[in-house]
Amino acid sequence: MQVDKAGSLGETSEQLGESARADHVELAVIGLGYVGLPLAREAASVGLRVVGLDRNARVVSDLNSGRSHVDDVSDEDVRRMREAGFTAYTDDACLARAQTVVICVPTPLSEDGGPDLSAVTSAARAVAGHLRPGRLVVLESTTYPGTTDEVVRPLLEEPGLKAGEDFALAFSPERIDPGNTTHALREVPKVVGGLTPACAVRAVAFYGKFIDTVVQAKGTREAEMAKLIENTYRHVNIALVNELAIISRELHIDVWDAIRCAGTKPFGFQAFRPSAGVGGHCIPIDPNYLSYKVRSSLGYEFRFVELAQEINRRMPEYVVRRAQDLLNSAGRPLHGSRVLLLGVTYKPDVADQRESPAVPVAKLLREREAEVSFHDPHVQRWSVDGVSVPRVPDLTAAVREHDLTLLLQDHSAYDLPALADQARLLFDTRGRIFRPDVEVL
Ligand SMILES: NC(=O)c1ccc[n+]([C@@H]2O[C@H](COP(=O)([O-])OP(=O)(O)OC[C@H]3O[C@@H](n4cnc5c(N)ncnc54)[C@H](O)[C@@H]3O)[C@@H](O)[C@H]2O)c1
Repeated sequence: MQVDKAGSLGETSEQLGESARADHVELAVIGLGYVGLPLAREAASVGLRVVGLDRNARVVSDLNSGRSHVDDVSDEDVRRMREAGFTAYTDDACLARAQTVVICVPTPLSEDGGPDLSAVTSAARAVAGHLRPGRLVVLESTTYPGTTDEVVRPLLEEPGLKAGEDFALAFSPERIDPGNTTHALREVPKVVGGLTPACAVRAVAFYGKFIDTVVQAKGTREAEMAKLIENTYRHVNIALVNELAIISRELHIDVWDAIRCAGTKPFGFQAFRPSAGVGGHCIPIDPNYLSYKVRSSLGYEFRFVELAQEINRRMPEYVVRRAQDLLNSAGRPLHGSRVLLLGVTYKPDVADQRESPAVPVAKLLREREAEVSFHDPHVQRWSVDGVSVPRVPDLTAAVREHDLTLLLQDHSAYDLPALADQARLLFDTRGRIFRPDVEVL
């Protein structure tokens, strides 16, 4: 079979279905992003034959040329995957060959703030078109409890096969933490919930091939809920510590020192730290899936989530107000001041800018007529509301020239003491530089 760089197959789906039987594939991953690509790498690393399906032709072509677009997967990793037989496709005909299909497509919010499952439903339809008896299908995309059973299962069953009888169906949340070098994917226990006990056995055996510990949930709903509990827990605790930061300042208390002290308790406490807000594809989004489910099924609000959202959403405004006060205390109005944003990604040491609080911060600064520029070792071009923000070419010179430097992400590439020495005014929103001439959130 011939595969070009864009992953188009030289055969029609029908023809591939025939030749596929001789060309056995253990795993097909749908959605080769932050979640799908590391999964494909891990499976390929233990010798499984893996293919990938992505509707983005650029992603497919880059992967087939040995280039990674994901922070935690290197080009070298992709080259090794290719050597182990991995190929990416844009044509869903590749699914016909796979014993197991794992769906890792995005689950964003729709315009009205509810779940947008369009990528999941389109992936499920693609799988249904190639489903054969004996196959295993797993959903990994984060979603509200009930999705695997109520949304994915009916689509897979449309052509006639029955889940739990003719094929196995399971949900397994992904717990990947981009940029985290401490916990390798295979070391993080994997929760798996099957539609039936037999489905669970199949899915546990599959993940057991490349994950050290697989934890079986009672069913798909419990596995779906487990992921939302984890992310709602983070969301609520981030909001709590952000509100504590605001309150502590009013009370003349150093919240960072208080957190450091509380963090020494060896049980019953986990330290969270204040910031300009929450970002990424998970924490600001996933709890909405749960509140949607509560509202649509039970008719009332999930109040913890609503409150956490309100507090976290207000943090950029708070940060800008503090920046304005800092400039004022140095005798400068925000209007016309040159403000340099350092780190515009949603967390340190990644290139991912999704839902980054740097966006509302830049927007608010511009609305108040500040001149905004940015620097980020992981981002070359950055726009806010379609208007490009200038990237400073020389960090040291820029820090000296700007009226205010605002540290939003403490990327490890930054020499923080040097920045503090060079900056005219430095506002550290990450609590990394404690000295009298640096303002800390
Ligand atoms: N990024 C994370 O840290 C993280 C962690 C845990 C869980 N998740 C969840 O995993 C899921 C995937 O997230 P991600 O960060 O990997 O997204 P991503 O945007 O990095 O990657 C998704 C990929 O899916 C492709 N895609 C979209 N629709 C498709 C379709 N119908 N068919 C084939 N390909 C399609 C896109 O082109 C993209 O390459 C989401 O539900 C997310 O909430 C993400």
